[in-house]
Amino acid sequence: MNFKLTEEHEMISQAARDFAKNELLPGVIERDNKQEFPNEQIKKLGELGFMGMMASPEYGGGGMDTISYVIAMEELSKVDASASVVVSVNNSLVCWGIDTHGTTSQKEKYLSKLTTGEALGAFCLSEPEAGSDATSQKTTAIDKGDHYILNGTKNWITNGGSADYYIVIAQTDREKKHRGINAFIVEKGWDGFEVGPKEDKMGIRGSDTHSLNFNDVKVPKENRIGEDGFGFKFAMKTLSGGRIGIAAQALGIAAGAYELSKEYSKTRKAFGTEIMNHQAIAFKLADMHTQIEAARHLVMKAAWDKDQGENYDLSGAMAKLYASKVAMDVSTEAVQVHGGNGYVKEYHVERMMRDAKITQIYEGTSEIQKIVISRSILNK
Ligand code: CAA
Ligand code: FAD
Repeated sequence: MNFKLTEEHEMISQAARDFAKNELLPGVIERDNKQEFPNEQIKKLGELGFMGMMASPEYGGGGMDTISYVIAMEELSKVDASASVVVSVNNSLVCWGIDTHGTTSQKEKYLSKLTTGEALGAFCLSEPEAGSDATSQKTTAIDKGDHYILNGTKNWITNGGSADYYIVIAQTDREKKHRGINAFIVEKGWDGFEVGPKEDKMGIRGSDTHSLNFNDVKVPKENRIGEDGFGFKFAMKTLSGGRIGIAAQALGIAAGAYELSKEYSKTRKAFGTEIMNHQAIAFKLADMHTQIEAARHLVMKAAWDKDQGENYDLSGAMAKLYASKVAMDVSTEAVQVHGGNGYVKEYHVERMMRDAKITQIYEGTSEIQKIVISRSILNK
């Protein structure tokens, strides 16, 4: 067993850390306030190869392993979880899905633009009345021979307003239940496709979350991903990997909040000494550090499983369940360590606490991760 990062992994970590410090940090508070999408920063991340890290080099991807991806996600999320969710959706839900299960022409037409930042992707599974219970979705795609007609509404879609290409999961044959579901690539601007209003959110306010309406949208048959009826399995397989990315995002939020707290404790004085000299604060930092290390081990193990071709449904779900709890606990304690300053925007940790919460909700709530974990350990 080797816990040491390779030289290449260290370089990726450093590049992501530099980008976060130089490009994300300067406007992060303002973007959060204004709910402003990090357009320029995402474009630059594309140019630097962060938008299609694991995708095949022949389609513009970085051909990197999952360890590289989670390292980058952690570093970006230490500073700006709104930007990192954009990176995460594009990499692990959209690029991975098309790269792994798409046709050559889908890869040539769509993947090659998604990997370079020329285009942005979104993944559309959730609906107003079907979030956790994803098989009960109502969006339909009716087979008309050479095309499908898509109707329905998707809810809370990350990159909903900014994306160019959308992977949409829809019901083709209700009688077949989840085996009658398909996944399609839909382009922004197609007749009948409307982007709904932007959600006003608690956290990750720099990312844009929209509902999407499909009214008789004509989707060519060649835009279906995989065999007929593969859509639900496709969504589940894609989410298994996506959850590792969100676990890394949660880890990054926790680590970012911890690093700020540690520095603050060395400079802030109370009762004639730096607050780190009060054991109550030092013990908080000790707990934070321990939780973060444990979360990092789970995240790395899940990424390693994926890279080794092992099953990662269980390790990915455990990593997301635990790291998201750590993100919430550590960011809340970070506000406490900062006292009154922790409650104001300038010190960043209040934003991190708001951002942390979403990691327990999206890509499967914590309760859903426990369903995945318990079914796996009990062989159900
Ligand atoms: N890989 C491959 N296939 C899988 C699978 C996996 N990981 N998990 C389930 N399946 C297959 C099953 O084998 C089954 O197929 P067969 O009957 O052909 O064998 C089929 O899917 C249905 O499985 P279940 O009976 O287990 O389905 P269920 O209705 O009990 O639901 C669930 C299972 C795990 C709860 C699932 O519905 C789920 O994950 N829900 C959460 C949805 C979610 O995570 N949404 C995230 C949206 S994207 C997002 O949030 C992005 C973002 O914020 C940035
Ligand atoms: P519900 O399913 O209604 O759950 C409500 C509560 O009941 C939760 O606590 C849940 O854990 C619990 N619950 C439900 N079923 C069970 C059960 N069987 N056992 C125990 N507890 C249960 N979706 C996309 O498809 N694409 C995206 O890009 C995307 N981005 C998002 C971005 C944001 C900011 C947000 C808020 C959501 C996003 N989502 C996206 C949707 C997200 O995945 C869902 O909100 C999530 O899966 C939960 O679904 P729900 O909101 O319908 O909650």
